[in-house]
Amino acid sequence: MSARDEDPAIAARRANWRNATKMVHAGRATSEWSGLVNPPIERGSTILHAATADLFSGRAGPTYGRSGHKAQRALESALAEIEGGAGTQVTSSGLSAVTLAILSVVEAGDDILVTDSVYGPTRRFCERFLPRLGVHARFYDPLIGAGIAAFFQPDTRLVVMESPGSLTFEMQDCPAIAAAARAHGAISLLDNTWSAGIYFRPFDHGIDLSVQAATKYQVGHADALMGAVISGSAVLDSRVKEAARLLGISVGPEDVYLCLRGLRTMGVRLKAHEAGARIVAEFLAGRPEVLRVLYPAWPGDPGHEIWKRDFTGATGLLGFEMELTPAPALDAFYRAMRLFGHGFSWGGYESLAIPADGEMARSCGSWRGMGPLVRLHVGLEDPDDLVADLEAAFTARAAEVGGHGTGS
Ligand SMILES: Cc1ncc(COP(=O)(O)O)c(C=O)c1O
Repeated sequence: MSARDEDPAIAARRANWRNATKMVHAGRATSEWSGLVNPPIERGSTILHAATADLFSGRAGPTYGRSGHKAQRALESALAEIEGGAGTQVTSSGLSAVTLAILSVVEAGDDILVTDSVYGPTRRFCERFLPRLGVHARFYDPLIGAGIAAFFQPDTRLVVMESPGSLTFEMQDCPAIAAAARAHGAISLLDNTWSAGIYFRPFDHGIDLSVQAATKYQVGHADALMGAVISGSAVLDSRVKEAARLLGISVGPEDVYLCLRGLRTMGVRLKAHEAGARIVAEFLAGRPEVLRVLYPAWPGDPGHEIWKRDFTGATGLLGFEMELTPAPALDAFYRAMRLFGHGFSWGGYESLAIPADGEMARSCGSWRGMGPLVRLHVGLEDPDDLVADLEAAFTARAAEVGGHGTGS
């Protein structure tokens, strides 16, 4: 803790800071940074100590670079403060944050419940890696809500949620699922990346562990990967940190710096992402080719009521389903775009469009798709230019459909 953090006037006021203020000030320890606004980038594995005993006492501060330096402490403390958690462990990617969180709490013989809408690589970890450790994953319908109680077995240790799903956007009733987990004595874990940790407060809703793929909005510029596990209690935080130590998890100082720097402007960026996404969603809802818009903040979205109840804002990731479209017309649709790039990830300043169906896998038939599924990330371009880009894509699709028979 820095001298600034210990200032009683700041301590008294920071409890009332709003999100925008926290994003700018949380984790700042300028007195420890020679007055600099941002932390120094410290490189180093070896940390020298005057007495050899200090290397082993556990009382002389950090003894090795793997645990990170000042910027990492600043980022971890900022992410915990923003989400209202007891502590944070950062990792080298969002996926490694998910796997660390799971590995921190399971042991051989455990059963875990995972939402069928979960991010594909998380599903693959649960299906392919956990069985090697004697941990069995079962997938449940994301819309199950309190009905999840019927799925618990005596050995169920963990429930994994992701809300909304990052491809299909189902809103989960996280408070109900977390309450059922707690009643059973199981731990609940939420991949809270879509809300950027700002628009949904997991620990106020009874969730135990929150994961951020900080690669997305915190980094915000598509130039680094970062993950974070934020714990709702000090006990869980120390379990996560111990697992990170045992697994040798460490993060490079430049990436930590970029993530912290991104965090400082995330508040204004998120507002622009949401404003743009709302305009794009409205445009899509008015297109005859669009069957369904998937954006929880949009009143027509199937999960809108849960979003309204639990969330205080929305970000820039949304999806939509199109009328059945022959492959050449779908190809023409994507090729006509000039502002939406085609690549994985999201949360950067630039807009992206990908076919989402190809990334999807389901175990319990929880997705009933109506047509090709498109995932958009609405970046920071002028939304009217983005709408014009999508209009051009629909025109190219129509020309291809017209030239090659029906669209179904
Ligand atoms: C919801 C969600 N969780 C986790 C991840 C993994 O993050 P990373 O790409 O940093 O490993 C992603 C990446 O797209 C994601 O969308």
